[in-house]
This record gives sequence, structure tokens and C-alpha cells, in this order.
Amino acid sequence: MRTPIIAGNWKMNKTPKEARELIDALKPLVKAAKATVVVCVPAVDIAEAAKAVRGSNIKVGAQNVHFKASGAYTGELSADMIKAAGASYVIIGHSERRQYFGETDETVNQRVLAAVENGLIPIICVGENKAQREANYTDALVEYQTLIALTGLTPAQVKKVVIAYEPVWAIGTGLTATDEQANETIGVIRKAIARKYGKGVANAVRIQYGGSMKPANVKGLMAQPEIDGGLIGGASLKAEDFAQIVNYEA
Ligand code: 13P
Repeated sequence: MRTPIIAGNWKMNKTPKEARELIDALKPLVKAAKATVVVCVPAVDIAEAAKAVRGSNIKVGAQNVHFKASGAYTGELSADMIKAAGASYVIIGHSERRQYFGETDETVNQRVLAAVENGLIPIICVGENKAQREANYTDALVEYQTLIALTGLTPAQVKKVVIAYEPVWAIGTGLTATDEQANETIGVIRKAIARKYGKGVANAVRIQYGGSMKPANVKGLMAQPEIDGGLIGGASLKAEDFAQIVNYEA
């Protein structure tokens, strides 16, 4: 019912030239993918990546967006600029942005609104850290993060967003949530959306898992009924690895 979505988050890796090389290598490997395929590249790579994906089934995403349309915000990029450069998706509220750059649930919400108003599809990241999981706060936390992030969107807009459940303790650590843990927490997120926006909306929203997803564990995770895709960091930087994840059914 929901089309799976596999997105690479390149983080702070690859120059424009390297971006083209990676996308050129990726194109033939993922051309038969059933999933939506997205590469979220550094901002300076967006224009080159947009050219490189032309005529293919790969979409380009950014890794952040500012919430204002324009103005005195040195170093920031508006949704309008990101769209014009050739991106159609944007990651918002990644835990690294929250942890190192002071982003809050409220600014995440403002960024989501700016993205949606400008026709970008947000990939909204939520997830608990190790201490929060151990204290049993995971469910309450991801519900809160999700509902705050969506505040102000219409139900029709909520249907189109992508949410990435990324337990912070699983990012870049080699530790993955078990298939069941990931499925359970994504189920919690979907139920929270259902309570606020109705089952029809909740059943349409695509919710990814992220955190050390790789060729070796993608099948088990994707076999879970609540998991609609992945947000992949490290393993998205090599064409063969990312393609194996994209083609997880093959
Ligand atoms: P890794 O796949 O490197 O753990 O990163 C996950 C992530 O943060 C994707 O946004």
C-alpha cells in the first residue's frame, strides 16, 4: 500500500564532482527499484546532483532548510533556494542537527512548514538517545517529537511527509535496533498520527528506520510491517552498498 522509500544521507561527505561520480555509478544499479530512491546531498552538491540524476529514478534531497523565506540569516538556505537548485526532498531535525546545532522540536516544526509550503517533501527525523531508551521514555519522546513537528500541517499535507525513526544510539555506531524494536517504535509513531489525524492519514505516511542500516540487515528490517524504508548514512556513500539496500527485495 505504501511505496517504500530508501534515502541516503551523505552528511558532510562528497564534493560536487564526487557526487556526480557516485550518482553515475548508482543510476544503472537502482534503475529497476520498486522503492523511491533519494540521495540527500550537501547543499553545494544539489545542483550537480540534480543534473546527474536527470532521466533516472533517483531524487535529490537537501539535509536541512531554514524556516524563513529570505533575510539576514547568514549561512542559511531557504526552501525556495533548495527547490530551485533541484532538490525535491529535505531532511529536517536530524539528531546531529539537534545535538550539535541546537535545533529544537519547535524549529523543526517551522522548518517542516517552510518545506511543505514550498513543495519540498520533508524527511522528519525523530528518535531517542541511549539514556532515554533505558529510562523507558522512547514512546513518549517519539510521539512528542512527531506531533510537534507536524503542527500546523493539514491532514492532506501530513499524508505526504516522510518520517525517519532514528534511534540516536544506533547512528554510526554499528548498533542497529532489532527488527522488532524498530517496528514497535515506528508503530507507536503511526498510532500517534492516527490519534491526531485519523487512520487514513496514518496509514499513508511513510516511516523509515535509520541507524546502521546496511545490506546485511535491510531484509529483516524491511520485512516488518510498519517499516516503510530506510535513511542510510555510512552505507549510502558506496554505490554498491546503497544499491543493495535499495534492491533489498532482489
Ligand atoms: P548510519 O547509517 O551511518 O548509522 O547513519 C544513519 C543516519 O544518521 C542517517 O540519517
